[in-house]
Amino acid sequence: MKRILTINLSIALLSLFVYVSAQDQNTLVIKVDQGKDTISRNIYGQFSEHLGNCIYGGIWVGENSPIPNTRGMRNDVINALKDISVPVLRWPGGCFADIYHWKDGIGPRDQRPKLVNSTWGGVLEDNSFGTHEFLDFCNLIGAEPYFAVNVGSGSVRDAVEWIQYVTADDGSPMALLRKQNGQDKPWKVKYWGIGNESWGCGGNMDASFYTDLFKQYSTFCHVPFKVASGGLDFDTTWTATFMKDMRYHMNLVKGYSFHYYSICHDWQHKGDAVNFDKSEWFLTLKSVYHVKHQLENQIHVLDEYDPQNRIALIADEWGNWYDPAPGNKRILFQQNTLRDAVSAAVYLNIFNDHCRRVKMANIAQIVNVLQSMILTRDAQMVLTPTYYVFKMYKVHQDALLLPCDLKAPEIQNGDASIPSMSVSASKDKNGVIHVTLANLDPDKSYDLTCSLEGAQLGKNITGQIITADKMNAYNDFGKKEEVNLQPFTGFDVKKDLLILHMPAKSVVGISISK
Ligand code: AHR
Repeated sequence: MKRILTINLSIALLSLFVYVSAQDQNTLVIKVDQGKDTISRNIYGQFSEHLGNCIYGGIWVGENSPIPNTRGMRNDVINALKDISVPVLRWPGGCFADIYHWKDGIGPRDQRPKLVNSTWGGVLEDNSFGTHEFLDFCNLIGAEPYFAVNVGSGSVRDAVEWIQYVTADDGSPMALLRKQNGQDKPWKVKYWGIGNESWGCGGNMDASFYTDLFKQYSTFCHVPFKVASGGLDFDTTWTATFMKDMRYHMNLVKGYSFHYYSICHDWQHKGDAVNFDKSEWFLTLKSVYHVKHQLENQIHVLDEYDPQNRIALIADEWGNWYDPAPGNKRILFQQNTLRDAVSAAVYLNIFNDHCRRVKMANIAQIVNVLQSMILTRDAQMVLTPTYYVFKMYKVHQDALLLPCDLKAPEIQNGDASIPSMSVSASKDKNGVIHVTLANLDPDKSYDLTCSLEGAQLGKNITGQIITADKMNAYNDFGKKEEVNLQPFTGFDVKKDLLILHMPAKSVVGISISK
């Protein structure tokens, strides 16, 4: 009897040991032979709005500024953005788009009417950055332009004339006006958003009213790619109402917009961008991760009404939103820490993974607003931790998504439970495999055993890492950078396995080639 008990106890202990070690074994299988969807480069898009110091001070300083510039646009910002290969830039809003009248922003700058930006801070702006300047900026940084048309306080005629002004070469009054203003050849602008957040700041419409308006605008706006305003991130009823109608008007729409902002607590107390504790690290990342759920709910409705995957989901606003820094209430300036780098990595991995439907994403916003790439103060410029994530991840642009099977534990803090790791992988046109990973655990490093399915592990393996000692490390004006991109050598190769030693709170990029 005693012997049987001892044997049973040993078996129980052994199973516990096997269970515990299986739990500790973090594994990643990359299915190199199963890729079928391309990660559109436009997932790495940006958003710029007439809000705070995004345009004025951040991009535009004017030709007479002592800050080095090209035709009024800051050279430091242009060069930094060229380095991350911005594929597409959305403008002029946001909520601002629905108070913007494009004709105020053309012609000699000293004769342009002023505009009270009633949406953002009531500031008076002189319209010196308008259509020509925006398109010049896109050209300087190598990005495709994406316009947002004013539906809330504009008219179909305004929209049609803007399109003619920008794209026509037919002797029409708007094409002639453009020539008079110094631009002989039309520009090529593919992407046009019809309204912005039409459920809220864009006119407080309901779904069926907006759907009718969209059809009206779209009928007369002859541009290749029209993007409809989606509802709130969780609102699948708006999506269903729009899509039900669109089944019979598929020629009118190419994209459907989705906005998602992650917040630490709630909209009244969004949390501080820099002074946060571990529980707020978890809550923010939990909110970031929730985008997957909202995105999949929206994709589910699109799949139902558009099984042929003709309408792209355009995530044209996303990112972390904190309480603005003191004194910056209506200008949404916030610092950017390692938490934002890890968040951006998770978002981008999720967008990559859903690239069958998600064809564009535009982080909010490019300079000085919300989760920016760049912060400026007078002549100084800071590259944020999020900037370095975009720099690391640009290898995914237009690459083939490789499905991944990741097994890693959930981690917990109070009520907040989040995955410890996030990953996406792709193969570029030269056959190089790129894997981007985030370790969301603020304290613990993990070993991750990676294997390739359908291919041999190449011999040339290189890595980059973004991390820091403190979870709220950030880059500040006049100080040495605390968070940037560093070479990563924390991996071993054992036969066909790649063992990654992922430090706590880090983002890692690995490239594997023959
Ligand atoms: O990005 C800031 C604002 O957030 C945008 O103007 C609006 O579209 C959204 O609500």
